[in-house]
Amino acid sequence: MIPKGLSLFLLLQYVVYAASADTYELGKNLYFEHGCSNCHGTNGEGSSYYPRLAHQKQDDLMQKLNNFKKGIAMTQKQEIMFTFVKSLNQKDFKNLSIYLSKLKKDTSKKYDIEEDLLGVDF
Ligand code: HEC
Repeated sequence: MIPKGLSLFLLLQYVVYAASADTYELGKNLYFEHGCSNCHGTNGEGSSYYPRLAHQKQDDLMQKLNNFKKGIAMTQKQEIMFTFVKSLNQKDFKNLSIYLSKLKKDTSKKYDIEEDLLGVDF
């Protein structure tokens, strides 16, 4: 039989794991539903023009998103973000920042843009 203390410990571990797995998935859904991936990349990798979001510290991401929500930008280029945080709340920021800080590369190709959808026909 598993000692009481240990089973409680395992249960708590599971609860913590289940909760974080949940926020991760919720954050991921938000990231794609709100079109963040269009600029910041399918894996939050960014590009020469858009910043990488993957693996930034969760607190930093929260702070940046909150600043955008308050209309605070360090550069004019950042002001573009005011529009994209408008419909998001604190819970969304939390889910997004957890997802981005822990991001594991999605190799399923589920989110890749298919070439024929781009409408480019060479
Ligand atoms: C139209 C393109 C575009 C979309 C869509 C977009 N962003 Fe951004 N994002 C930017 C630009 C531009 C910046 C500022 C770049 C700079 O400071 O040089 C930025 C900055 C950020 C930053 C600050 C990063 C840093 O290190 O300074 C965060 C966090 C962020 N975006 C999150 C998001 C999230 C979450 C979404 C979806 C809800 C999103 N962005 C959608 C263009 C976009």
